[in-house]
Amino acid sequence: MATRTMNPVKVLNFFTQVKRSPNVSRFGLCNIFQGFTTARRDDQPPEYISASQVQQVLRYKELIPEIEKSFVNFSDRKNGGIIQPVRLKVPVKEHSGILYVMPCYSAKDNALITKVTAPYYSKDNVNHRVPSHLLYFNAGTGDLVAIMDGTVISEMRTAAASAVATKHLASEDTEVLCILGSGAQARSHAQALKFVRPFSEVRVWSRTPANAKRFAEEIGATACETAEQAVSGADVIVTVTSSSTPVLLGKWIKPGAHINGAGAARPTWRELDDDVMHKSVVIADSIEAAMVESGAIILSKAKVTGELGEVISGKIKVDKKKTTLFKSLGMAVQDVVSAKLVYERIQETKS
Ligand SMILES: NC(=O)c1ccc[n+]([C@@H]2O[C@H](COP(=O)([O-])OP(=O)(O)OC[C@H]3O[C@@H](n4cnc5c(N)ncnc54)[C@H](OP(=O)(O)O)[C@@H]3O)[C@@H](O)[C@H]2O)c1
Repeated sequence: MATRTMNPVKVLNFFTQVKRSPNVSRFGLCNIFQGFTTARRDDQPPEYISASQVQQVLRYKELIPEIEKSFVNFSDRKNGGIIQPVRLKVPVKEHSGILYVMPCYSAKDNALITKVTAPYYSKDNVNHRVPSHLLYFNAGTGDLVAIMDGTVISEMRTAAASAVATKHLASEDTEVLCILGSGAQARSHAQALKFVRPFSEVRVWSRTPANAKRFAEEIGATACETAEQAVSGADVIVTVTSSSTPVLLGKWIKPGAHINGAGAARPTWRELDDDVMHKSVVIADSIEAAMVESGAIILSKAKVTGELGEVISGKIKVDKKKTTLFKSLGMAVQDVVSAKLVYERIQETKS
């Protein structure tokens, strides 16, 4: 039975310094000792980390660069050290729900997690619930060290992913941001995108006008009566609705705009019409997942140029003057790097 005799954060920091030494390999000493230092007694329950604790420690300034690196690692295949199968789905038809299981191991981060999330939809997608938790393991021993509420992580890592896509795919001189949707993802996107581009105007549209108005007031944006009004002339467009049918039409889009399409992660659902799909350079987070999960891609039969990780690493060159679309489905590797940040920051507060 392993017991903790030293402050694990101090020991980990020591070995992190050792790892930075040019003579120590990337996957070397630090990884071995990280497993050792976070070893738990067999009878010790995993730590519970609540949504408010996550909110206190997770910051876009730190998260966006981590998400950026995770895209590169993911698309670097074997060299990237990411093991991430396409998520497992268990439909709960009788209750209009679905359970997703999203495991991932990142060798370079020495981190192992599984996210379990269960979006449940009521009629017309009103008041849908998305309970979400992350199981954070000690990658060195397989012990479950923490259970984290996953809602804030899902909101922030998805918005951080769109921020990374915007940084690499949107033209440099963006002025107008348009957000279609007014829920949790709309709020996180409004915050995160400011870290990569300045916007002089933000417009929002939502199916329920009162929700659009409330959201617009909250973030100092303009609420538009129609989606077309919000989209016309926008440089960056975000679609974050639970709609299963298109809310964004290609005929409204300014040539050269960048779109982050983050909703509709089911093969029969789509927020984007055929015109959007065929006039854009389409970049996916994971091509493997996009081909089985994205209704926008499957139903339109649009060509997918590549993955965001390949754009960031320079393997694929995309002309920012063209209309670009980042089709985001969400990846467990984003949860891995987010959860690691959260866990480490929380341990630091205890030292
Ligand atoms: N890509 C990723 O990694 C990722 C991660 C998490 C979530 N998501 C997806 O992001 C989307 C938004 O999630 P959320 O957490 O922000 O949800 P939310 O808080 O429940 O907000 C849902 C939004 O969708 C709108 N909506 C619902 N049904 C609609 C319809 N039929 N037509 C037009 N608008 C409709 C709602 O509009 P009103 O309130 O105005 O009616 C609301 O603005 C979902 O599709 C979710 O699955 C993606």
